[in-house]
Amino acid sequence: MSKITVVGAGNVGATCANVLAYNEVADEIVMLDVKEGVSEGKAMDMMQTAQLLGFDSTVVGCTNDYAQTADSDIIIITSGIPRKPGMTREELIGVNAGIVRNVAESALKHSPNAILIVISNPMDTMTYLAYKSLGLPKNRIIGMGGALDSSRFKYYLSQALNCNANEVEGLVIGGHGDTTMIPLLRLATYKGVPVGSLLNSEKLTEIVQSTMVGGATLTGLLGTSAWYAPGAAGAYVAESILHNQRKQIPCSVALDGEYGESDICIGVPVILGKNGIEEIVKLALNSEEKELFAKSAAAVRATNAVLKEIKIL
Ligand code: LAC
Repeated sequence: MSKITVVGAGNVGATCANVLAYNEVADEIVMLDVKEGVSEGKAMDMMQTAQLLGFDSTVVGCTNDYAQTADSDIIIITSGIPRKPGMTREELIGVNAGIVRNVAESALKHSPNAILIVISNPMDTMTYLAYKSLGLPKNRIIGMGGALDSSRFKYYLSQALNCNANEVEGLVIGGHGDTTMIPLLRLATYKGVPVGSLLNSEKLTEIVQSTMVGGATLTGLLGTSAWYAPGAAGAYVAESILHNQRKQIPCSVALDGEYGESDICIGVPVILGKNGIEEIVKLALNSEEKELFAKSAAAVRATNAVLKEIKIL
């Protein structure tokens, strides 16, 4: 029996669980939250869609009862507070670091072999915290930011090209931050044709800008962080792992010399399969992209340094 635990049944966690159930990614999906009754209620609501939507996965909710999450193949961490309009993801670190470390430790006690997917923000730093504090091998710790940012990149490209987003290729590497993410225009294509030959440079710059502030744009509209795409991105990453799909997805992973960086978790393309990270894909970046990546890594490192200041690491 396959089992996925989603910690945090807020907007992102519940959406993630819903997508996992609807797509029958696992036989059982357990949602856990600290708020009494919330995950139980959301799980029951989802189970009442099973007949309407025709899925056979089971969704279970529980209030802080980690025993119910036992023997999960994958643990997805969404806990913590979301952004408010005008806030950066980095500003959440003081509150979220303690929560993320705590819930990850509790969940792993009951599922010592699980692969961890981190969604909580600031995502690269929360992934790094998990990597440094939990003692798991690095193939089992994955931050989902690049999956989300790449989907937003493809959305903005498809809007500009007036085409189907599934027919666009594009990836975003670097940090999951408004100023740290790197949409790789040079490698973006529509049906194999480089987008640089289909759109003018003004439009291309606009697409990159919109992608980078994609989360902030939604926070401005919604009054809180987005959830449909973040939740679906977590489920997409989990599916490639659990079903051993070996999809290439940009994710925040621990680097050990790859892309010239070490002792950091940051977005690069990886092959995701049954062991989690099967391979870090080494793209041949040009000098401009390398420079952007180094800058992005420096910014992520500066946020990571706060973990030491607040004595969580
Ligand atoms: C976003 C948040 C979830 O990008 O990081 O929407």
